[in-house]
Amino acid sequence: MRTLVNFIIFYIIIEHTLASKWSYAANMIHGRNAHTAVVLNNGRVLVIGGTNMAVTFNNAELYDPSTGTWSMTGNMTNPRIFHTTSVLNDGKIFVTGGGDSPKTAELYDPLIDQWTPTDNMKYRRWMHTATVLNDGKVLVCGGIIDEGEYLITAELYDPLTNNWAVTGSMNFPRNFFTASLLHDGKVLVTGGYNFQDGYIDSTELYDPSTGKWTITGKLINTRTYHSAVVLHDGKVLVLAGVSGDQGLFVNTELYDPSTGNWTLTGNMNVPGMFRTASVLLDGKILVTGGEEFEAQCIPSVEIYNPSTGLWTVTDDLNNERMFHTASVLNDGRVLVSGGIDLYTLNTTEIYNLSF
Ligand SMILES: *[C@@H]1O[C@H](CO)[C@@H](O)[C@H](O)[C@H]1NC(C)=O
Ligand SMILES: *[C@@H]1O[C@H](CO)[C@@H](O)[C@H](O)[C@H]1NC(C)=O
Ligand SMILES: *[C@@H]1O[C@H](CO)[C@@H](O)[C@H](O)[C@H]1NC(C)=O
Repeated sequence: MRTLVNFIIFYIIIEHTLASKWSYAANMIHGRNAHTAVVLNNGRVLVIGGTNMAVTFNNAELYDPSTGTWSMTGNMTNPRIFHTTSVLNDGKIFVTGGGDSPKTAELYDPLIDQWTPTDNMKYRRWMHTATVLNDGKVLVCGGIIDEGEYLITAELYDPLTNNWAVTGSMNFPRNFFTASLLHDGKVLVTGGYNFQDGYIDSTELYDPSTGKWTITGKLINTRTYHSAVVLHDGKVLVLAGVSGDQGLFVNTELYDPSTGNWTLTGNMNVPGMFRTASVLLDGKILVTGGEEFEAQCIPSVEIYNPSTGLWTVTDDLNNERMFHTASVLNDGRVLVSGGIDLYTLNTTEIYNLSF
């Protein structure tokens, strides 16, 4: 009996040592990178557009966590890459702009599995951001247009009237920046790049009650191709990215909305850009993949603990990938989809926190 128990304990230890927290899930129907992904209110994950390097997709597909399978949805009206995707208050999914169709926007209704175009935006955009405000409107700002012009403009979509209206412009044109909804309803944009200023360290706040932008604290590093998440306590964590003169860096920064200041928090273990950052159910932050140097993708995964301010390495992805997505499922697991390594990936993998 003692021997059997020892054997079982030994087996469990070995099993846990060898098994990765990442396991492959079903392949997508189309390999894609530079797509977007969003979790629907029914718990399914919708992945949208992107490219396989031959075509830009007008299609989208759904992952059902209860069956572990992918299925195509109806087509979008337009192909999209580097577009935005948001969940509206009524549960519909709203996509805007992106390469190939930069002025258009459309809605996906999960109840009828169909896409419908909305009114066009006022400006063509890709590599921009979209943020759902507390009143249900969507703030779209920045980005780039095909001729290489960086955008300073912002506009609001009202789902109730299906209209776009121009709102206050930012203080800096930006692309590949981040936008985060703060607990007080304001929107914080950070960093990015534009032709005149290069890599940007400025951050600014949009106040929906005035429609105006004001400059707030400067980042410690200029950053573009970085990521930002809102922590459970309302602070904003900015991580990864690249800066023209300093290259890649491992330091990460916290914005405190009550002071408007940025302070350094823990260093990451691996530098990179184009990394995903997800808020887990317990408030920790999971960062996956990305690119280290030109075309050098990384499999690295790290977790930030807001209560200690420290980053720890966890199991690598099975596939190195960049321009992928990460979605927190309703049960707390994280689904990573697609992206590109040497070629566009149709693989997906799931991070299991339970062991
Ligand atoms: C979706 O779009 C693709 C590419 O344009 C086309 O080949 C396909 O037939 C479309 N599918 C449907 C159901 O319309
Ligand atoms: C933010 O930092 C600046 C520079 O250190 C300081 O002058 C300012 O007082 C800080 N803001 C607040 C509200 O503490
Ligand atoms: C996924 O990609 C691999 C490698 O390119 C390919 O062999 C496979 O047929 C693709 N599709 C599916 C559905 O697995």
